[in-house]
Amino acid sequence: MSNKNHHEKIEKNVGLLGIFVIIAISFGTMVQITPLMYMEETTTPVDGLTPYTALQMEGRDIYIREGCNNCHSQMIRPFRSEVERYGHYSVAGEHVWEHPHLWGSKRTGPDLARVGGRYSDDWHYAHMMDPRSVVPQSNMPAYPWLAERKLDGKYTARKLEIFRSLGVPYTDEDIAGAAEAVRGKTEMDALIAYLQSLGTALK
Ligand code: HEC
Repeated sequence: MSNKNHHEKIEKNVGLLGIFVIIAISFGTMVQITPLMYMEETTTPVDGLTPYTALQMEGRDIYIREGCNNCHSQMIRPFRSEVERYGHYSVAGEHVWEHPHLWGSKRTGPDLARVGGRYSDDWHYAHMMDPRSVVPQSNMPAYPWLAERKLDGKYTARKLEIFRSLGVPYTDEDIAGAAEAVRGKTEMDALIAYLQSLGTALK
């Protein structure tokens, strides 16, 4: 049988073609992804990076639950227009302890990768209760219930434990004190603590 016939066989058998397409794409994907798992630049935390506190961790989960990441990216691209607006472009070492990362690409609202410290806690509170009270033209939804709901802390320690199993350097004390650290706090407190931490490791 000639080569031509082999090729014809593959082209005419959709199952076989599918298998070869999957092999070809998997190989291409591995060539791109595997080096990133070992390169120092993408696996070493930037100096000064600290794991989320228990409260920030709860805030991050509320951020995900409320779908904030559907309108906000957390990744500043290395373009002049972005750097002038949002600050230093994002680097991989800032995100090595994020599981999963919330980079995103959809920006209905501004990028939040460096929103930490840009506004006061009071500003965030007012903005979450009613965005129009501080930014009249805003079309961001309000999240007033976050101020009423208290954290129960039931899973806080477990969350830190899981992150630790993924390589985030939490200590036994962090985990033991996690539930206590969020006691009496509202979901709003947690979300604001999380927002205030974003992008602050890189000086
Ligand atoms: C429907 C899209 C949408 C959703 C969902 C959304 N936002 Fe926004 N957000 C915006 C828009 C638009 C702006 C810009 C206007 C403003 O400041 O209100 C904004 C602004 C912000 C700002 C100010 C950023 C800056 O640099 O000025 C913060 C902080 C913020 N959002 C946090 C959140 C959080 C936290 C959530 C989830 C609880 C959330 N947003 C959900 C659209 C959204």
